[in-house]
This record gives sequence, C-alpha cells and structure tokens, in this order.
Amino acid sequence: MNRTYYRDHWTEIEPERFERYKLMFEWSDASRRLLEPAGIQTGDVVVDLGCGPGFTALELATWVGPSGHVHGIEVNADFVEYGRSVAKDRRLEETVTFHHVTDGALPLSDDSIDCIVAKNVLVYVDDPLKTYQECHRVLRIGGRVHAIEGDWDFTLAEPVPEDDWKALIRAASVAFRSPSIGRQLHKVARTAGFADVTVSVDCRPDTTGRYLPMVRNLCTYARQGGALEEQKIDEVLKRCEDAVSSQELLILTPQFVVTATR
Ligand SMILES: C[S@@+](CC[C@H](N)C(=O)[O-])C[C@H]1O[C@@H](n2cnc3c(N)ncnc32)[C@H](O)[C@@H]1O
Repeated sequence: MNRTYYRDHWTEIEPERFERYKLMFEWSDASRRLLEPAGIQTGDVVVDLGCGPGFTALELATWVGPSGHVHGIEVNADFVEYGRSVAKDRRLEETVTFHHVTDGALPLSDDSIDCIVAKNVLVYVDDPLKTYQECHRVLRIGGRVHAIEGDWDFTLAEPVPEDDWKALIRAASVAFRSPSIGRQLHKVARTAGFADVTVSVDCRPDTTGRYLPMVRNLCTYARQGGALEEQKIDEVLKRCEDAVSSQELLILTPQFVVTATR
C-alpha cells in the first residue's frame, strides 16, 4: 500500500467512483445549513478549498453575485475540468475560477480573501497547520476560514457491532491523512495565529441510508488497505444495507464546524 494513498485516491479517481462523487457532492439543504454560518455576503471574494466537482463553489457564486468572486481549489484535474464546464453551462464562468493545485500553495495574493470554506478536505491535506497558515496569509484582516470536518472515532453505525465498525474505520483510515481532524481544528487554527476560533458540532443522524455511499467508500478504502478480511468488510456493508430495508439503521457522523477569524 502506497503511504500517500490518502492523496493518491483523489488525484486518480476511477470512472465509477467519479460518478458516485458527482452525486455525493451535489449542493443540498444540509450543505446550506453548514455553510450559512460562514457569513458570506454579496461582493465577497471566497475560496472553496477542496471543491470537488464544483457544486458548492457554483452555489456560492450566486451568494456573492457578479460583484464578488469564488475560487475553487482542487487537487483532481478532472473535477476542475468538470467544474469549469458546469460554470460555463450556468453562465457563471466570470464569477468562478477553478484552480488545479497540487502543492498546497494557494494561487492567491496576500490579504485578498474574505472567506475560505473548507468542507471535508482538511482530513486529506499533508499538513493541516501549513494549510491554515496559508489560509491566514491570503485572508484579509477579519476574514474567516469556515471548516467542516468529521472525526472518524466519533462515528457509529447501528446495528453494526461496535468492534466491527471500529475495525472497518481503522482499516479504511489509510485513506485519511488525519482521521481525528475534527477535534484538532480548534488547536491548529489557534497555532496558525487566528485570533478568534469558534467551534460547534452538527449531527444529523441517517436513518434512511443516505450515508450508504459513504459506507461503500469506507469499504473500498479498507479493501485497498488490506488490513481487514474481505468477509468482515462485506458483513459490515450488508448489515447497513439490510438495516435500511428493516428500518433499523442509525448512522452518526458528527461534523465539527470551526470558524477561525483572522
Ligand atoms: C470529501 S471531498 C469534499 C468535496 C467538497 N468540499 C464537498 O464537501 O462537497 C474532498 C475533496 O478535496 C479534494 N482534495 C483532497 N486533498 C486536497 C488537497 N491537498 N488540496 C486540494 N484539494 C484536495 C479531493 O480531491 C476532493 O475533491
């Protein structure tokens, strides 16, 4: 197993997983609830760090309007190309710029940004402190990083036995650089020099199977990692799928919402 799998599985995405992500990263009411507290205003210059196929960046373009701008930053070249084509279709190419970035440096000037949104990406970056320092550089005084991250140790999937779920998470953790990033964000933001850091935790239990694609991704990662037998992985997935049919499912993935102001 490649030690940089946490990065490589984003730079190289096979077609089937690409299609799954396009559905998973669609703009939704859940995303709206998590991003509204960022306080983005008309005319703001905003960054969407780890923007995926671009749906959030394109939505934010409608929040900032033609007098503002959104920069989508992404490590996967196909997502960048896809985001650009949707921006064109929606006539938003003047308001959104998608950047393909592979070295962690933001292609933006000092003191130029009002808000950086980072949703479920800091778990993958090489060095979260360096990322926060880079965000600090490009933000104007009073600008904010609004980060949303899980913390895999705080997840559960009923009726999967706790040990089996934890074994799956451990095996799948090859796909994450910092699997416990949620609890670390406050400390890292402070260390990077942010003056004011607020933390809240958002949790909307899944009882209908909307997190099944996430469970399937975890199984893919665990298979790649090779630390858990295939049969164990299959059992966890089947338990979750069966629990949807029998209406017994309850998946919790608390999201740490951390707003750091420069
Ligand atoms: C879980 S997805 C989240 C996508 C989007 N933020 C959302 O919540 O819908 C993580 C995204 O971050 C990107 N990514 C991973 N590491 C990155 C890095 N070091 N710099 C920029 N993007 C990165 C991945 O390619 C992927 O598109």
